[in-house]
Amino acid sequence: MWRMQLIRIAGLMVMVLLLACNQGQTGNKPYEAQDFSKLKGMPGFSDKALDRHFTLYQGYVKNANLLLEQLQQMTTQNQTGSPAYSELKRHLGWEFDGMRLHELYFGNLGGKEALKKDSKLMKRLKENFGSYDNWAADFKAIGAMRGIGWVVLYEDPQNGRLMNVWINEHDVGHLAGGNPLLIMDVFEHAYLPDYGLKRGDYIQAFFQNINWPAVEARLGK
Ligand SMILES: [Fe+2]
Repeated sequence: MWRMQLIRIAGLMVMVLLLACNQGQTGNKPYEAQDFSKLKGMPGFSDKALDRHFTLYQGYVKNANLLLEQLQQMTTQNQTGSPAYSELKRHLGWEFDGMRLHELYFGNLGGKEALKKDSKLMKRLKENFGSYDNWAADFKAIGAMRGIGWVVLYEDPQNGRLMNVWINEHDVGHLAGGNPLLIMDVFEHAYLPDYGLKRGDYIQAFFQNINWPAVEARLGK
């Protein structure tokens, strides 16, 4: 009788261990590219340019997964002291941020209405920049800076401060712990196909398509 009980207890322990292992592995699932095709038809953005941009984004997802997998393999094979490991490790932030920033960028597009005057975000923009126009002028000016990268409206969760920030390429200039609210891509691939060198016209088109409810939903609770 006691043997049967021991077998049952052992079986339960194995099940608990397997469940724990499975839960631990959920965080290691590969990232999957999100579908932003609903943005097609957006005014000021050709479907051709959007399709190319989606393909570029999918490349970041693929490479972020590849790098994470390779780094994990090298860790288990005790290759962490190798120059190859160092280089791949340094590159991870570039690919990962390239993936995540595109998701935030596409996620804050597709809107059809201006930011509501009585919205929480409008109030916060006024508190931090004096007026919506002051904020927008600063955001657009950063977008016009020479170079390739991103403009991010960040919220500091510690004190609620809002800041417009330039991100060089994908990974340089992020605010540690910052909450990205609105993201604008100013890599050349974002505007050259539809606007040539007229980056300002692209920025205007971007502003006409901001999904303000999606941006506001990112505000800290
Ligand atoms: Fe991009």
